[in-house]
Amino acid sequence: MKAEILAHLGPHPWANRLQYVDTVDSTNTYLKTLSLQNAPHGTVLIADRQTGGRGRLGRSFHSPEGLGIYMSLLLRPQCPPEQLMHLTCATAVAACDAVEAVTGLRPGIKWTNDLVVGHQKIAGILTELVHTSQGICAIIGIGINCQQKEEDFPPEIRDMAASLSMLTGRSPSRSALCAALISALFKMDANLFSGKEEMLNRYRRDCVTLGKEISIVRGDGTSHATALDIDSDGALVVRYAYGKMEKVASGEVSIRGMYGYV
Ligand code: BTN
Repeated sequence: MKAEILAHLGPHPWANRLQYVDTVDSTNTYLKTLSLQNAPHGTVLIADRQTGGRGRLGRSFHSPEGLGIYMSLLLRPQCPPEQLMHLTCATAVAACDAVEAVTGLRPGIKWTNDLVVGHQKIAGILTELVHTSQGICAIIGIGINCQQKEEDFPPEIRDMAASLSMLTGRSPSRSALCAALISALFKMDANLFSGKEEMLNRYRRDCVTLGKEISIVRGDGTSHATALDIDSDGALVVRYAYGKMEKVASGEVSIRGMYGYV
């Protein structure tokens, strides 16, 4: 698989920073360990299977062998963490670009970190920051459902999850998609600050949450609102039913459509 990815990638500045493992608990967790052992900016870790794939808000990410993409990227940005608030949005746009390049299908984005097609999730992103003695590291994890059939998903997520092969009727090459992701993430990193406004406009275009009536679920309860905009940090601007407007940051909340997951 690694040789195939490298063949699709061609000469690339991150090619010799690619690591591939058969099984790992979580590529994000393992890459965190590597970041503390001085792994360089641009290290990419891909696994064929995760035994403890993680999602946002303590959720799990089902990661069966050979069916999905489980990838994490290590960045060492030279800036304070508060300037990285848009990183998950930038990753979502890059992941949409990669999926579109390989399958012809452009997913939508359910704010903040899920790629969806129709009412079903095909991919998720988990961005984590690590403070090391050499400064901050960002670990960006991306999981994409590629070749699962409906019965490969656990019953409790079958309604809301789908794979690229279920949606396109074709079996996308996982190695081609990994290479496309690495290329798209390299461009994202190169333009992370200079291209921020353009990226946010692309995010707004792809974001299926905007304009929708949503439920905002926090530790202390659920409120209803209309999703209006994405601000310059990637926060969701909402108007509550009683009229007040607020910017919601992704760390705090889970968002649902009023009538389902999207
Ligand atoms: C979510 O659905 O909330 C995010 C899912 C992110 C899954 C990816 S798979 C590769 C990386 N390793 C993990 O443990 N999680 C991310």
